[in-house]
Amino acid sequence: HKPQRGHVTRAQLTAERQPAAEVDWDSLGFGLTRTGSTMWMATCDAQDKQWSQGELQPYGPLPMYPSAQSLNYGQAVFEGMKAQRSAQGRVVLFRPDCNAQRMHEGAERLSMVPPPEDLFLDAVKQTVAANIDFVPPQGKGSLYLRPLLIGSGPILGLGPAPSYTLVVYCASVGSYFKGGQLTPIDLLVEERFHRSAPGGMGGTKCAGNYSPVLVTQLAAKKEGYSDVVYLDAKTDTFLEEVSSCNIFVVKGKTIRTPPLQGTILPGVTRRSVIELARSRGYTVEEVPVTVEEAMQSDEVFTTGTAVVVSPVGSLTYQGKRKQYGEPGQPSPVALELYDQLTGLQQERYPDPFGWVL
Ligand code: COI
Repeated sequence: HKPQRGHVTRAQLTAERQPAAEVDWDSLGFGLTRTGSTMWMATCDAQDKQWSQGELQPYGPLPMYPSAQSLNYGQAVFEGMKAQRSAQGRVVLFRPDCNAQRMHEGAERLSMVPPPEDLFLDAVKQTVAANIDFVPPQGKGSLYLRPLLIGSGPILGLGPAPSYTLVVYCASVGSYFKGGQLTPIDLLVEERFHRSAPGGMGGTKCAGNYSPVLVTQLAAKKEGYSDVVYLDAKTDTFLEEVSSCNIFVVKGKTIRTPPLQGTILPGVTRRSVIELARSRGYTVEEVPVTVEEAMQSDEVFTTGTAVVVSPVGSLTYQGKRKQYGEPGQPSPVALELYDQLTGLQQERYPDPFGWVL
């Protein structure tokens, strides 16, 4: 029989419980300085595939053997989501069903037991309700939620874990890149390494996709860049994505972004920005975009849950630097889409799509 799950009501997600008073909400970056005090955790035995009902507990270390599958062989997928205070006095989530679905697909790709969608959604809502005083005041940031699914059970020979853990923890966050949300970022086109290859794991939000980018990202940061953009592994011609976000180029009223063919992350913000831009009269095409085309476009911007919509100030490729617009000034289409997206997410604007929960 199905275990009874704790149910979070809308009333528990009102903004009645205010942000903690002692916090300087203006100085938030993207980090663990304001980590939520409570996390949610459930486990599942691979044999019967039944998830426990899950429970809230103090944020702290996970009990695991060094032989845990995820630590040795990498069964780990995660999500990034945000809870925000809305202009309507609520604390709201944005398209959480998309994250539940993506975790399900990732779990299947890595031979893990996917948590049921209702368990995932309830876990996220319980985590928000338990940490509601960590949700920053409206417009000052968000409560970043990190659902993490790992093969936690021990194993020695290569195979799937005998048991799984789903944990949701959270932290109050501000803007991802240094310099503030709308400060344009400087990107370097990576020419040595690829992030993923056709038939590989690039379209899965697995932990293993994120550390291989560090060697290039750290080198680029040393040279003053914010991050790197990857090119396709087959031809070294087409843009793929940035280490932590998807990429878009703008020419007039046409916006283009690389298509989902398994090598880039299917971002929830990517998908939302595509629909939002179309609803505002832009032509949006999911087509291969060459780096040369990007160098000749009017604007470039990136999207992601953590980065939201981030204007790109410059792109450097083979030693040539292309500057977009006025240095330090956000470009107009990125600014418009940032305003529309965050307005909708924070219920400052109506939500015709039904995305806000
Ligand atoms: C997110 O945007 O939520 C991500 O998971 C990207 C991560 C590198 C912060």
